[in-house]
Amino acid sequence: MLILGIESSCDETAASVVRDGREIISSVISTQIEEHKKYGGVVPEIASRRHCENILAVTRQALDEAEITLDDVDAIAVTYAPGLIGALLVGVNFAKGLAMASGKPLVPVHHIAGHIATNYLTFPELEPPYLCLVASGGHSHIIEVLSYTKFRVVGRTRDDAAGECFDKCARAMGFPYPGGVHIDKAAQTGDPTEFKLPHPTVAGNEFDFSFSGLKTSVINLVHNSEQKGIELNFNNLAASVQSTISELLTDRTIKAAKALGYKRIALAGGVSANTGVRAALSEACEKNGFEFYMPSKSLCGDNAAMIACQGYYNFLSGITADESLNAVATLSMEDI
Ligand code: KG4
Ligand code: ZN
Repeated sequence: MLILGIESSCDETAASVVRDGREIISSVISTQIEEHKKYGGVVPEIASRRHCENILAVTRQALDEAEITLDDVDAIAVTYAPGLIGALLVGVNFAKGLAMASGKPLVPVHHIAGHIATNYLTFPELEPPYLCLVASGGHSHIIEVLSYTKFRVVGRTRDDAAGECFDKCARAMGFPYPGGVHIDKAAQTGDPTEFKLPHPTVAGNEFDFSFSGLKTSVINLVHNSEQKGIELNFNNLAASVQSTISELLTDRTIKAAKALGYKRIALAGGVSANTGVRAALSEACEKNGFEFYMPSKSLCGDNAAMIACQGYYNFLSGITADESLNAVATLSMEDI
């Protein structure tokens, strides 16, 4: 079965063709990063306009590279939530038009479920149930993947997402947007022991995260040093930020796995590209005798192959949408 996936929830316009939920036939991503860099973050209005300009060409290219036409596709999957509303609306309306013109079924996909599905594209043998840590620019969740289409969120961030924390700390150090990858690079030659950063815990749920205190302490440290004319070693600071975020994510995930009896753990989301996070969770899983899965680096960031993959499983479960499908900016995984 061939699924055409379409993704436009943030600053990547993407389209992909995936066979039987596991095999990527084509995957085209048009990124807007260079344009948003000037503003230090994504400008929603600009993102929507660029999606509008690019989505047809990106989709045409995905079909061409797969050497198929719309006629050969079995269903059209699209990200409808969560994300920037104007950006999502472009993809949703485009997919609705394609579905109407071709008479193919329309399949709505939750963006986070899509990130989780990157592991199915990387590991053909992986099947639910398992526990998944999803860390991206907008989300940090520990999720029970009960089946391909049923999820239970057991831990979440109370404030900033892990990716947002990486990006804001990077900005304070003068790295361009999106800064996570620059922290990753700088950390490779840094010493994580020079700066002791806070490891905040939150009351109420031991699997929840909080990253705003860490972010604020890094911003204050950089600004106070600037005012006093003290030059900080940003490689060391980047290494501290990365190891602190990695420890926080790993600690809560392993705790949740032990408490809930999971022996299989997966990682997903843009932050899953981070060298420190990948190593920390991988080592902790090995130490505890858990199986560990993480997406190949090329699938960590936003893409449409993950939407086509999750779309396949949604379609098999009978999850389709009619012409009234709308985009939703905020939607819990449990409400899909
Ligand atoms: O999943 P994603 O592409 O978009 C959202 O759905 O939010 O995640 C983007 C986030 C950004 O915060 C970006 O800085 C972060 O993932 N990221 C990284 C790395 N690569 C991307 N963070 C740390 N290290 C990286 N190597
Ligand atoms: Zn994402």
